[in-house]
Amino acid sequence: MSEANILQELEQIKQAGLDALASLENEEALQAWRTAHLGRSAPVMQVFQKLGTFDATLRPQVGQAANQVKVALEGAFNTCSETITAKALAHALANEKLDVSLPGRPIAHGRLHPDTQILRELYRVFGEMGFQVYRSREVETDEYNFQMLNFAVGHPARDMQDTYFVDAGERGDNPIVMRTHTSPGQVHAMQEASATNPQNPPPVRIVLPGMCYRYEQTDARHETQFDQIEGIAVGPGITFTNLKATLSDLARRLFGQEVRTRFRASYFPFTEPSAEFDVECFLCHGEGCPVCGGGWLEIGGCGMVHPNVLRNGGYDPERYSGFAFGLGPQRIAMLRYGINDIRYFWENDARFLEQF
Ligand code: FA5
Repeated sequence: MSEANILQELEQIKQAGLDALASLENEEALQAWRTAHLGRSAPVMQVFQKLGTFDATLRPQVGQAANQVKVALEGAFNTCSETITAKALAHALANEKLDVSLPGRPIAHGRLHPDTQILRELYRVFGEMGFQVYRSREVETDEYNFQMLNFAVGHPARDMQDTYFVDAGERGDNPIVMRTHTSPGQVHAMQEASATNPQNPPPVRIVLPGMCYRYEQTDARHETQFDQIEGIAVGPGITFTNLKATLSDLARRLFGQEVRTRFRASYFPFTEPSAEFDVECFLCHGEGCPVCGGGWLEIGGCGMVHPNVLRNGGYDPERYSGFAFGLGPQRIAMLRYGINDIRYFWENDARFLEQF
């Protein structure tokens, strides 16, 4: 590249670039052209790199001419690029067929978790029976989770509910616990209602759903996190007959008129008398199988609210009585949908969830 004919050479560089561009047909060739004629080692770029070696009087003129060549090549490149894109589109429109009769891709719809479905059904059924839905906290004090419910400190019945304690510093006999059942909500609900009229507390009829936590050895019927739906009805003259009628009616509404149920005498410190409520196993129809054990699946505990618990809630046991129950919605869903292992619920395996 001599100083004398550099301007002439620049003109040739430009012409060579424009000539090469004229014959390009596709995007790939266009990019190759860009590298060759505008890339770092393209001839016009080399002129810029060598500018410092030219005579100082010539430099401005050469620099300006090189810049004009570069701008001309860039402009031509852009025009050519647009033409090629337009040609490719026209070609695609003319030659590629669009089959509008093909079915579209299916849209994956989300759905409600089976546990949510059964809870909503329970709210509906209990709603029809006149129960309101009440919410209570999942993290409780020992006082509400146990003591107010007649489980004194050190009471052996505490062993029925292996408990997770929350590390909340030294709190003596009142540590913080993850609630082991929804029953502490009974006391909160009664206290709230009786505070509105301490001399003459209004009747209470609520269901109380929510998560519970126990340090359990998991199996087909037991999880460490599970939900319960508590129910409590307090008022003058409420009897065990009302409790039996309510739960039997619930079972018929959920499982059909023919369903067989049974009440089994049991023990809870906060109800007297107490019972377990069982529904005939859907899998073995009472024969006994690995899911139910003895032919029946226990879905809840129940009983008449203990006088001490009524008193803790602000209700005089001489004037008021009440029944309470605590059911396992997941166990109900198992019966309802024929699910043979409770651990499927929180595994979040889409193959399980898609079935509901
Ligand atoms: C109770 O928790 C009592 N609070 C129930 C109650 C309420 C009795 C009111 C009297 C009056 P129990 O531990 O049996 O009782 O649990 C009640 C139901 O919760 C069980 O029948 C079962 O359906 C469900 N359940 C209990 N533990 C688990 C668990 N680990 N995994 C899944 N469901 C469970």
